[in-house]
Amino acid sequence: MPKRVVVVGQGYVGLPMALRAAEVGMSVVGLDNNQRLVDQLNAGSSHIGDVSDEDLRAGLRAGYTASTDPKCLGDTDVVVVCVPTPLSVDGGPDLDAVAGAARVIGENIAPGTLCILESTTYPGTTEEIFVPLVASNGLVIGDDIFVAFSPERIDPGNEVFTVKNTPKVVGGITPSCTKLAKEFYSEFVDVVVEARGAREAEMAKLLENTFRHVNIALVSEMVRFCDELDIDLWNAIDCAESKPFGFMAFRPGPGVGGHCIPVDPSYLSHRVKAKLGYAFRMVELAEEINDASPNYVASRVWRMLNKHQRAVNGSSILLVGVTYKPNVADCRESPADPLVARLQGWGAHVTYHDPFVPTWIPHGSDSTFRSVDDVYAAAAAADCVVLLQPHRSYDLPKLADQSRSILDTRGVMEGPAVDLL
Ligand SMILES: NC(=O)c1ccc[n+]([C@@H]2O[C@H](COP(=O)([O-])OP(=O)(O)OC[C@H]3O[C@@H](n4cnc5c(N)ncnc54)[C@H](O)[C@@H]3O)[C@@H](O)[C@H]2O)c1
Repeated sequence: MPKRVVVVGQGYVGLPMALRAAEVGMSVVGLDNNQRLVDQLNAGSSHIGDVSDEDLRAGLRAGYTASTDPKCLGDTDVVVVCVPTPLSVDGGPDLDAVAGAARVIGENIAPGTLCILESTTYPGTTEEIFVPLVASNGLVIGDDIFVAFSPERIDPGNEVFTVKNTPKVVGGITPSCTKLAKEFYSEFVDVVVEARGAREAEMAKLLENTFRHVNIALVSEMVRFCDELDIDLWNAIDCAESKPFGFMAFRPGPGVGGHCIPVDPSYLSHRVKAKLGYAFRMVELAEEINDASPNYVASRVWRMLNKHQRAVNGSSILLVGVTYKPNVADCRESPADPLVARLQGWGAHVTYHDPFVPTWIPHGSDSTFRSVDDVYAAAAAADCVVLLQPHRSYDLPKLADQSRSILDTRGVMEGPAVDLL
């Protein structure tokens, strides 16, 4: 069993992974280039909703420590890389963090180390970008050092599936790399699945997220014309879900968000275009439909106000839940950002409530919003309420009761004031 592990990147993915390895007895360094975060973690204060301070402190007692010093890379059996893979300004992959981490690993590691990339990226990244930097000092892959890709599948806010019981896919550059990576994860993950190689493991992750992206787009497009045809798509989905095979339910919403669904399929379409010169049309279409969802929500708000002979211009609109999904504090790529821009552009007075977000600066905006204290009182005072994320702390019947007019983008509310998206 590898005794020493360095997990590079201590965010939503890296911190739970590092603590799980410490829990089974490994000595783990969480390496991050953010000194303030490292100090905070060493003081026992977690920045991730899924990791309580208690869990972190148990990890610190069990052998976890956070650091900014890359020297720990020279004194470890395994390095796991969980750094961000965002989009660049032109919408393509931004692999700066992956390349930066790989470079530092290459400068520090000793022969015999197993290096695993977990960050979501396009197929070919491990071989073409990660390996040359990690093995820059002439170490031979599969002989001197070992390299594999293992996609991260963590689902923030999911209390059922954790690092331990979510199967892990591993694909090495050589069969010996796959074998070592499998042995490593088998120490603390219940099921480990071997891919044919690193590319297949990379593609598995992008297939999973593209599948979600495309299916969300399917129902998001359907909900728009079902509304015009006076068909309750939500009910139709419930009925379709009674089929025990060949169907998986996806439901409409205010738009996709987070660090995965709006980002990862673009990595794949960009790769196809750059390498082969043609478009991955399914992804491009899904992007177009999903990107339009916040505008569709805005148009429904416009229609609801219109029904009450009010204009959006000058109306007070309360957004409820501005994170990208329920029960997490993550606001990255939240559909609330383009929604607030559209409503403000139309002259609405927008306020919001979110128990996870005391202050909110929507992406691309120069306004700072402060969450209202009492969501129910604010709902009673607003001309229109939009439920975006049904965090579990909300009393939804009370919210429906208090609101004059509420747009439910999640299909979770009932009452005379409620309009279903
Ligand atoms: N958040 C999710 O739900 C999720 C789920 C599955 C996969 N992923 C993937 O996992 C990867 C990490 O995502 P995340 O959400 O944990 O990101 P994050 O932003 O929460 O955390 C990344 C951490 O890496 C640190 N970092 C950046 N560059 C570094 C470097 N060169 N050296 C050391 N530390 C560095 C940052 O300071 C930050 O603390 C991404 O590729 C993402 O697509 C994320």
